[in-house]
Amino acid sequence: MTEADLVLHGARLLTCAPLRAERPRVGPSAGDVGAVPDGWVAARDGAIVATGHGETHAQVARTAGAIDRDVAGRVVMPGFVDPHTHLCYAGERWEEFATRRSGADYLAVLAAGGGIHATVRATTAASDEELLALLVRRIGDALELGTTTIEVKSGYGLEPEAELRQLRIIAGAKATAPSDVAATYLAAHALPAPYTDDRRRFVRGAIGALETIVAEQLAESVDAFVEKGVFDVDEIRPLFAAAKKAGLAVSLHADQLNDVGAAAFAARIGARSADHVAHASADGVRALARKEIPAVLLPGSAFFVGYPPPDARRFVAARVPVALATDHNPGTSPLEGMPTAIALGVTLCGLTPHEAIVAATINAAHALGRGDRTGALVAGRRADIVVLDTDDERELAYRMGAPLIAEVYAAGKRAA
Ligand code: NIG
Ligand code: FE
Repeated sequence: MTEADLVLHGARLLTCAPLRAERPRVGPSAGDVGAVPDGWVAARDGAIVATGHGETHAQVARTAGAIDRDVAGRVVMPGFVDPHTHLCYAGERWEEFATRRSGADYLAVLAAGGGIHATVRATTAASDEELLALLVRRIGDALELGTTTIEVKSGYGLEPEAELRQLRIIAGAKATAPSDVAATYLAAHALPAPYTDDRRRFVRGAIGALETIVAEQLAESVDAFVEKGVFDVDEIRPLFAAAKKAGLAVSLHADQLNDVGAAAFAARIGARSADHVAHASADGVRALARKEIPAVLLPGSAFFVGYPPPDARRFVAARVPVALATDHNPGTSPLEGMPTAIALGVTLCGLTPHEAIVAATINAAHALGRGDRTGALVAGRRADIVVLDTDDERELAYRMGAPLIAEVYAAGKRAA
């Protein structure tokens, strides 16, 4: 039988293994974590080689120096996948946070030149070295909390050259991070002042950056904030068409604060995911279901900003794959780690604890186009593994904020 350099046995193993060939989990199976009592997982050279239960792990040969551990009944599960973050920024927004909690409106602050624009100013003022150090630290903090695959968006540059600078810094972090980093070009996050009278010129500039992005492999996906008073579907259509033509995936901030038809647009354009969707219409939800496009729920921003959170039951009932993410950003969601996103996904959005775990692993992997590579403990996938300090994974949702992440392995290497 196979040799392994990592074997964890005696586990409550959550495989999250695909039920149908490499498709996200929907409907009644949305909460199936594939639990194996007294399970084990073995890996070699960064990839899972086998899983099983009972004493059969004894048949797996160990390499010299292999990690070989009895985890004594604790939960062993896939590393978390965080499919939506804005980690490349400088500066915090304490003042805005306080004024918004006492009534100021998020979109009004943005329209008045604050919000995202404030972070753009702070990010522009920071040096490349400072930004890289901040980003590396944040990816590391997420890893400590069990996130082994993380999406990172640009979006705090706005002007194409400034966006490219952000993407190169993200590429720098990706090159050394133990986690798998998925870079996204958030091409249309807010309109910079010089374009107020010519919005289409701004979008043309964003399209112009795609050639460099493809040539330097700076991003795998393109995102836009499709929202009332920010960008509408018609403005974004040419950007997404150009992105797809260039071989990039697209995803969008869709119907976060208002229904602007963005979820249905995501389905029409064949987006990799539709994110936020708190205000998606019934038509939008049906359209996502038809195309099996993951809805990435971001309860952190609903919680921090104070708008009604997305109702996960609508999506599960309609057979839309549901994923969860932190949306970590300095404006709407300074949220650390997927365990908190899981807890909020349950308490605010109405997922069951098991649905939330699926949403934070295999379905989140699908939201990043990695549904066949990570997010499940299955032979052949990246050995991204978390050991919880409990024998009941539902504690992730129940004991909010508890230090439950005991061990983290990224591509088979102990990372935290
Ligand atoms: O996902 N809403 C748009 N983008 C981010 C917030 C960015 C910011 O406020 O800095 C979000 O909520
Ligand atoms: Fe976001």
